[in-house]
Amino acid sequence: MTEQIVYLNGRFIPKSEATISPMDRGFLFGDGIYEVIPCHGRRPIALERHLDRLTRNLDAISLRCNERDKWRTVILELISNSPWEHCGVYFHVSRGVAERRHHTFSSTLEPTVFAYTFDIPAPRSSANPPEHGLKLKSQEDLRWQHCDIKVTALLGNVLHYQAAVNEGFDEALLYRQDGLLTEAAASNIFVVSGRKVMTPRLDQHLLPGITRGLVLDILRMSQEFEVTECDLRLSDCFDADEVWLSSSTREIAPVSMIDSKPITARAKSVWGLAIDLFQQHKFEFA
Ligand code: PDD
Repeated sequence: MTEQIVYLNGRFIPKSEATISPMDRGFLFGDGIYEVIPCHGRRPIALERHLDRLTRNLDAISLRCNERDKWRTVILELISNSPWEHCGVYFHVSRGVAERRHHTFSSTLEPTVFAYTFDIPAPRSSANPPEHGLKLKSQEDLRWQHCDIKVTALLGNVLHYQAAVNEGFDEALLYRQDGLLTEAAASNIFVVSGRKVMTPRLDQHLLPGITRGLVLDILRMSQEFEVTECDLRLSDCFDADEVWLSSSTREIAPVSMIDSKPITARAKSVWGLAIDLFQQHKFEFA
């Protein structure tokens, strides 16, 4: 297999030649922003929404670097040359290389921009459901107060996720000290009762997932569901018919267990209806 081509600072180069300085603030401080853009059959999903979030997040950390048109071209080029039909584009902008390590930053640094593709699972549908639902471990959310920004400093998420996997679970489900659910370690959460589809309302404690937004828009458009953004607790999951996770790489994934309690669809699978609508409409959003 020929070596994968990645993008680094203006050049498409073999992955083994892509190197950065250890003085890069992304390496030293996790000082950067990233996106993951899903593509199926080489077509990106909601690319402009991902670029909107990237631009907004760069602004949120005062990383002034708006090259949106150039980045769109880079992303499309990586997709068309990707070894995989179904791939995610990892797109990363860090604040760049500084002469000396200091917490404060200068606005004159040249950002480091790195992007590459990786394979993701083929889309699911009601006719092709996953063999097993996801098993989640609930944990108190110990991350910082800006989980709405997609920063590369993911150690909090990493430790939550790893602790869940070490105990034999697929992902961590996070709740705050006040008991309110935020999200999973790398996904958003949906709780379903009958045709009522609920997800935590957006604030600084969770990422405004692009997939979450698509699910809400598509289900609202269909008018077959009552869709609400509200406060949710762990107990709501145990009372629910279904629980789903959403992300760019998982799309909508059913959950089968939280801690030691099974979550089984008590009604006809609403996930089946939702995933089919999602597959039907997911390319309609810019
Ligand atoms: N994770 N919440 C967190 C903490 C996430 O890391 C992600 C995505 C999501 C879902 O967002 P979206 O629908 O935009 O993918 C929610 C990505 C896939 C990752 O870090 O690899």
